[in-house]
Amino acid sequence: MEPSPIIAPSILAADFAHLATSVHQIEGAADWVHVDVMDNHFVPNLTIGLPVVQSLRKATTIPFDVHLMIADPERWAPGFAEAGAYNVTFHAEACDNPVALARTLRAAGAKAGLAIDRDTPVEPYLELLPHLDTLLIMTIKAGFGGQKFMPEMLDKVRDVRRRINAKDLQVRLEVDGGIAADTIEQAAAAGADAFVAGTAVYGAEDPAEACRKLRAAAERAMAGAA
Ligand code: DX5
Ligand code: ZN
Repeated sequence: MEPSPIIAPSILAADFAHLATSVHQIEGAADWVHVDVMDNHFVPNLTIGLPVVQSLRKATTIPFDVHLMIADPERWAPGFAEAGAYNVTFHAEACDNPVALARTLRAAGAKAGLAIDRDTPVEPYLELLPHLDTLLIMTIKAGFGGQKFMPEMLDKVRDVRRRINAKDLQVRLEVDGGIAADTIEQAAAAGADAFVAGTAVYGAEDPAEACRKLRAAAERAMAGAA
């Protein structure tokens, strides 16, 4: 297991009129900033797209973790890599050839991530892990922030962790949805090592302090699980 957790606040829960300020608030306390891109086709919600990411990229040095909840990711994902995203994650349910798209993303200079939504089993994707840098397990149904964490998704996290460790793979295992001070410990104990948190960070009085608390909780649980 990777020794230190990745904390990735989701700007979906931030003030969209002040995105640069929101990212500056967590600089130094977070590892990545998580950017939720939704298209009202793959999920019934519409958020932000490439122009916003291109502009925001210039406003900060923190790595961008772009989560594409869109149909036809082959068409759009490379543009996010070219815009300087550190990691670009697309959904298994939206992509016919994940290995090919991962290869394209890596060639464009980004890490490649595959996301598994609530109703999708992870087992068929375990063999793709060597082609990926990140595997994201949704701990809610993708589409909206502020939903309740689903502990039953942690069986998938355990399955992926077992495979990563058995094959000694360099893959980040990320969880997204309902991650907060209490649930982050469960997710970390199950084997996750990257944690997206929207409401728990941007709904807090002090977003940087919220990141530090999440990190401390994750570190405790990861040490206990190791
Ligand atoms: C939802 C998004 C999440 C969302 C998480 O589909 O993928 O990244 O921002 O929000 P919280 O942390 O509030 O559940
Ligand atoms: Zn997300």
